[in-house]
Amino acid sequence: MEYNVGIIKGDCIGPEIVDEAMKVLDKVAEKFGHVFHYEQLLLGGASIDEYGVPLTDDTLKKAREKDAVLMGSIGGDTTTSPWYKLPADKRPEAGLLAIRKGLGLFANLRPAVLYEELKQACPLRDSIIGDGFDLMVMRELTGGLYFGERKTVTENGIRKAYDSLAYDENEIRRITIKGFETAMKRRKKVTSVDKANVLDSSRLWRKVVEEVAKDYPEVTLEHMLVDNCAMQLVRNPKQFDVILTENMFGDILSDEASMVTGSIGMLSSASMGEGKFGLYEPSHGSAPDIAGMNKANPIATILSAAMMLRYSFDLDQEADAVEAAVKEVLKQGLRTGDIMSEGKELIGTKEMGDAIAACI
Ligand code: IPM
Ligand code: MG
Repeated sequence: MEYNVGIIKGDCIGPEIVDEAMKVLDKVAEKFGHVFHYEQLLLGGASIDEYGVPLTDDTLKKAREKDAVLMGSIGGDTTTSPWYKLPADKRPEAGLLAIRKGLGLFANLRPAVLYEELKQACPLRDSIIGDGFDLMVMRELTGGLYFGERKTVTENGIRKAYDSLAYDENEIRRITIKGFETAMKRRKKVTSVDKANVLDSSRLWRKVVEEVAKDYPEVTLEHMLVDNCAMQLVRNPKQFDVILTENMFGDILSDEASMVTGSIGMLSSASMGEGKFGLYEPSHGSAPDIAGMNKANPIATILSAAMMLRYSFDLDQEADAVEAAVKEVLKQGLRTGDIMSEGKELIGTKEMGDAIAACI
């Protein structure tokens, strides 16, 4: 089959890690008889440097025409980069939020998996992690505080800032359906996370989740308050299968979940809308401190490409092959700096890409 893939290399380590993911995709194409047509698109700092804005209409239009978009990472060092001298709505992150909204990508899937081979990187005690954990954060991505009305005013000489958190029932319903559909393909448990003891938006969230749950009798549903969830993630991460939550809570909890794995350089993500189209990117940031040094771990991006094969192209066998190749190189003892431990072999970004491609 032939697929059109938009490529957003992005900023800092972005280009290096995306190059390795493309290397692996090319190997998949060769092995399984597919053709991937790539077109590079600019977003974030790279787009600011070229066009003065973090997202152009042209990039958005072209992205929309693709079967999927694979992305590296955007943004730079917030204290030293000139991008952060710009007004907030012209900075790299604004481009990311605008492309999510513009492409209707309301569902953000962030798996957090403990790899057997990297168990020693997990900051939790053995007695807590046991034989590991495998959870999926399903984060709402185009509503809530991120997209609510905001303003800063001065009232009676006092500066005051507002951000509003609103969800309508349709926004809640569609992400909830994604959460339950995902749970059906996993261990059939949904933990819906909210702050229903305080927030109206959370009380509506809970009601709508209950309504949707009626269509999924096989799925076990539980509700959890967000502060408790933050605690439970380090107390017993094994209890979770799918964590379903709104935008801001999901932003925070997904970082916590990734930290618990001890290897954020390994974690992929997918942002999806109603159909098959998705934007795939590593869960980690742009790591300005190691940009251009052949030190970054490309695995999260490579696994994001695997998610693209699985979710946007329905190429399960090919996705399995990529995931198996990643496990194989870990078994061989190859490591980038972020996941290095005693007795293993330290290699660079390119060498990691080569090794994984070779295992396909
Ligand atoms: C993420 C990031 C973004 C977010 C930032 C860069 C705007 O933290 O993808 O989790 O908050 O959504
Ligand atoms: Mg975040």
